Amino acid sequence: MQLFNELFKFFHIKVNPTVNLNNSSDETKYVPFDPAKKHILESEGYRKILPVEPLISIISEMEVEKDVAVDVGAGTGHFTIPLARIFRKVYAIEISTEMAEYLHKKAHDMGVNNIGVIVMEKPPELEKADFILFANVLHEMDNPEEYIEWASKIGNVVAVIDWEEDAPFGPPADERIPEGEMIEVLGKWFNVERRDVYRYHYFLLGKRSR
Ligand SMILES: C[S@@+](CC[C@H](N)C(=O)[O-])C[C@H]1O[C@@H](n2cnc3c(N)ncnc32)[C@H](O)[C@@H]1O
Repeated sequence: MQLFNELFKFFHIKVNPTVNLNNSSDETKYVPFDPAKKHILESEGYRKILPVEPLISIISEMEVEKDVAVDVGAGTGHFTIPLARIFRKVYAIEISTEMAEYLHKKAHDMGVNNIGVIVMEKPPELEKADFILFANVLHEMDNPEEYIEWASKIGNVVAVIDWEEDAPFGPPADERIPEGEMIEVLGKWFNVERRDVYRYHYFLLGKRSR
């Protein structure tokens, strides 16, 4: 616990504590993950609480074309790089240039050359995606619903991984998006399935309902 508390003590800084899934006003401003703390995302502790294998086996077994995947808020590529091993092309969307450069170099150094890194704050213009991942990112956004709606227009399947309300470490409790709220919003466009995968995060799969 001590290790995790230290890892996540300064996970990110909030300016205004209001959580509102469809807030489009300027009142709530979240400061995204601080790139200076990217070592947290590369740590053993992070790999322990959020192993990539369960996600990869769920997606591998799903009847979804393994053509294009999008990893929104890709960070250091914790999920992006494993996804690039099963999809033909993966787009990694990052708000932070520093994170994007780090991921680009890491993928290059690992000889992974099917990742396109896009630096964008808003949903990018992409034609289609077979799979879209939001891992630990929607709670950092001012308007997560906008991103989910975008995903419903181009994506066949989405996965949302985000902090459980009662996880004993992680972002401040009032920043987290309760699972029930997330299911409600996803349910506007997707058939939602809950998977029991992680101890401190909920894992929701959304399959396009039309
Ligand atoms: C906590 S990290 C998680 C990274 C990765 N998904 C993982 O699970 O390891 C959140 C990442 O999302 C990025 N981010 C925050 N808001 C974003 C936005 N609106 N668009 C794209 N990336 C965003 C941050 O820069 C950061 O790298």
